[in-house]
Amino acid sequence: MSGLSYEKKNILHRVKVEGCIRCPNSEQRKKHQDQYGYCTYAKTTDGLGARCVGGWGANKAVFLKYYVDITGKALKSSWENIYYIEICSGPGICVDYNEGEQFDGTALAVLQTEGAKYFSKLFFFDINPITIEILKQRIANSPNICEEVKQKVIVSVGDYKKPNSILNVLYANIPSNVRGLNVVFVDPTDLSVPFKLYDSLLNFGNTADFITNYAYGTDFQRNVVSAFKKPKSPSRKKYEGTLQELGFFEDEVNRLDAEHNNFRELAKEHKKQFLKSFEDRGYKFVITTRIKWYYELIYISKNPLGRKFWEEASKKSAREREVGQKTLSFD
Ligand SMILES: C[S@@+](CC[C@H](N)C(=O)[O-])C[C@H]1O[C@@H](n2cnc3c(N)ncnc32)[C@H](O)[C@@H]1O
Repeated sequence: MSGLSYEKKNILHRVKVEGCIRCPNSEQRKKHQDQYGYCTYAKTTDGLGARCVGGWGANKAVFLKYYVDITGKALKSSWENIYYIEICSGPGICVDYNEGEQFDGTALAVLQTEGAKYFSKLFFFDINPITIEILKQRIANSPNICEEVKQKVIVSVGDYKKPNSILNVLYANIPSNVRGLNVVFVDPTDLSVPFKLYDSLLNFGNTADFITNYAYGTDFQRNVVSAFKKPKSPSRKKYEGTLQELGFFEDEVNRLDAEHNNFRELAKEHKKQFLKSFEDRGYKFVITTRIKWYYELIYISKNPLGRKFWEEASKKSAREREVGQKTLSFD
């Protein structure tokens, strides 16, 4: 048979995962997880742990993979030192519970690119020491990451709520004479990253571009309204901490929105205030990419070239990249 067909590009090394029963809802998934959130059913090809995500999780990995590739290759001659810093790295492999397949998470995905070779060092932080050990093993054992890149990788426990746990590692590994451009990816599951983490990173190195997972649809959605009524609640303290300035909970318009349970307006206002702190520092280029109803990736840069790179990297979903090009075959 001859004709046009799609050549499948397995850019995230998808493979059916043994034992995965493709749980239809979060209750079932939770039941099958161990205390660290790892699925106890799915047996990954290397036998190490993985967390379950919906099919959309692959978009993040693909966007980051293309972005690191494009940025590394394009800036290799204009920047002597570029650093990749990923906060909330995960263990390197995710399980897509819609398809019952494992695929490369963001850390493995970016390290396999040609562009990664042009970064001076690549850092991966996660709060969970078990996750960090798994990621270290996966990087060491990966046949798809070249030795040159493996030598530049630093994988460490780090807690974004304690910025110094991350900053100390950066200071120890990047002396002041070789600081440069930092590409920072922050990938939490909720809106709990304190602004002081961004502030410390903004003051480290010559400049930084950020990609942040703005996860407003999880606990923020559930708790922000009641946080207005409870000034001493832990959620209020947390959401206040994610912004540089106090005042979000005192603002009259926000208070009215809370009274009317208008979560969407509150999320919009929170994001506006978060981004204002970057705009005040000269960050003019912001791109929001919606991944799912409850989170967005926000790209923040001072440089129009950075924006161009992110647009290029995020213009196609994982599925579009994976399906690839039409090819003509004559059988
Ligand atoms: C969404 S997952 C990361 C997924 C990964 N970036 C990927 O796409 O393959 C979030 C990760 O954040 C980590 N985490 C949770 N709280 C943290 C904290 N306070 N500091 C650093 N990492 C944290 C979790 O252990 C988990 O591995």
